[in-house]
Amino acid sequence: MNNSIAILGAQWGDEGKGKIVDLLTEKCDIVVRFQGGHNAGHTLVVDGKTTVLHLIPSGILHNNVKCIIGNGVVLSLDALSEEIEILKENNIDVNNQLIISNGCPLILPVHIALDKAREVKKGKAKIGTTGRGIGPAYEDKISRRGIRLGDLSNDRELFNKIEELLDYHNYILKNYYNSETFDPEKMCEKLISQYDFYKGYIADVPEYIENAFKDNKRIVFEGAQGTLLDIDHGTYPFVTSSNTTVGGIFTGSGVSPKKLDYILAIVKAYTTRVGSGPFMTELFDENGKILSERGHEFGATTGRERRCGWLDLVALKRSIIINGFTGICLTKLDVLDTFKKIKICTEYKDDKPIYEDFEGWNESIEGINKFSDLPKNAQIYIKKIQDYLNVPIDIISNGPGRNENIILNKKFS
Ligand code: GDP
Ligand code: IMO
Ligand code: MG
Repeated sequence: MNNSIAILGAQWGDEGKGKIVDLLTEKCDIVVRFQGGHNAGHTLVVDGKTTVLHLIPSGILHNNVKCIIGNGVVLSLDALSEEIEILKENNIDVNNQLIISNGCPLILPVHIALDKAREVKKGKAKIGTTGRGIGPAYEDKISRRGIRLGDLSNDRELFNKIEELLDYHNYILKNYYNSETFDPEKMCEKLISQYDFYKGYIADVPEYIENAFKDNKRIVFEGAQGTLLDIDHGTYPFVTSSNTTVGGIFTGSGVSPKKLDYILAIVKAYTTRVGSGPFMTELFDENGKILSERGHEFGATTGRERRCGWLDLVALKRSIIINGFTGICLTKLDVLDTFKKIKICTEYKDDKPIYEDFEGWNESIEGINKFSDLPKNAQIYIKKIQDYLNVPIDIISNGPGRNENIILNKKFS
């Protein structure tokens, strides 16, 4: 395996990134999250037991692996401590494994209030955010008004910063949104009390990663959300507020692009999306229902029903241009097992998707771990995707479990 791999969502999130990060971490030393926040929900199924992670990198179930939260992640201290406690209850040695950058911007209760108030105000035009305060927290970072984890070490200055921040937001909450305001003293007190819990996890992340490379350690960079939710390259304004694409790795963790030697696209064998925004291949018929039910397409964070549709190769081609993917991991292929006919979108015409039809395989592919054992029609479907995108399919995932895969590139076996 290469020394460093990026694992990124190529669609609108929930492609199965968490599962694949967990799988490939078997042979790695470090997993780094570099953007997003607890809007993410990454599901790992190991020996029949399900773990859903939101902020903690998906390498945490391997007890020798260090899990880093880089400066590009917006951090809710409440959400993270909850996640840490659950893992500790399950005998995960989080104290020994987790490392956090002191540059992480904090998600404060005021950000959550703003996120929710805005969505209400937008009414039908809402983005359908996760309501986790992600957008407002990133805005405060960019406006240079934000509080970072490292700021909690200086009580006096912290109070001044919070006062300034709340002075601004309280005005808007009260006068524009007509909603409740926040008290700087209380907020400051709570943050200071939380710092004790967190200070032991803080490290200089760029230096840590640099030293790890020098020691020939293997590193996985774990993306959250997906390419089409990227703030710059996604379906704006129906996007999240971070760079979910490859560039986010470098700014969000402090590593040089020269250090990255493999970029893996996680591609779901069909398409899903949570929240509002365009979705060219969305299905409103029985087929959409089957995808939803067979794929258990409900959000791992908010429980919302995911919108479902056929695979969109036009959108994926765009995703490949932006990220320069080295290889593809095709997930949830088993969800298509029961279809008699399957469609793939290969073109847009007059703002409508043009499909190519494929015969389904109509049998279970559960338990198969060799490409040649797959039904012929499944092989044809996979080859079409690979030929169109001109990127090798290196892994096929045919079940939620850690070991339910077909590994095609021996780098990963
Ligand atoms: P992520 O956000 O990209 O990590 O993906 P999520 O965890 O939000 O959603 C993926 C869902 O599909 C989870 O429930 C996984 O357990 C499940 N899953 C992942 N890979 C497969 C697969 O190959 N087949 C099936 N049936 N389920 C899968
Ligand atoms: P993972 O990492 C799918 C979507 C929300 C909404 C938009 C903006 O599990 O793939 P935000 O709260 O980020 O401001 O919401 O982005 N969204 C996701 N959709 N998977 C995710 O994460 C998502 N994180 C955010 O539904 O449409
Ligand atoms: Mg998810």
